[in-house]
Amino acid sequence: MGLKDICPIIEFKDIGDERGKLVAIEGGITIPFEIKRVFYIFGSDSSVVRGRHANKESEFVLINVAGESKVRLTDSHEELVVVLNRPMVGVYIPKMIWKDMFSFSKDSVLLVLASTHYNGSEYIRDYNDYQELMN
Ligand code: TYD
Repeated sequence: MGLKDICPIIEFKDIGDERGKLVAIEGGITIPFEIKRVFYIFGSDSSVVRGRHANKESEFVLINVAGESKVRLTDSHEELVVVLNRPMVGVYIPKMIWKDMFSFSKDSVLLVLASTHYNGSEYIRDYNDYQELMN
């Protein structure tokens, strides 16, 4: 299984009508985990790289609900860059995948759904430590 299979793109259904678009995301149904936390990142510019970590416990879905950003994913062997630029599309990121978010457009609003409450101690923030754990 490659990274594209491990970190699939999820296409959300547009249940909107002539009044505009509407996307509904339900934990355990639209995405493969119960949502315990939601955060969103905005006001980052094209020079910023965020993330730079892997998580021992958390799973995530990333959605650019406005604007565009990119996320570079790796399992320490393979690398995959996903462009997030449609509110109808998310990328699922399981545990133990290293992620860097970058190339934020000025209007980027990156919505993140997480399977856990925040716990700083489950973050791996040193890439060498991550590589050692993965090998
Ligand atoms: P950080 O993990 O560096 O954000 P990113 O992954 O986007 O680069 O988090 C920045 C700060 O915010 C850090 O002090 C931890 C805190 N934080 C929380 O308190 N709760 C959260 O859910 C998140 C994601 C971060």
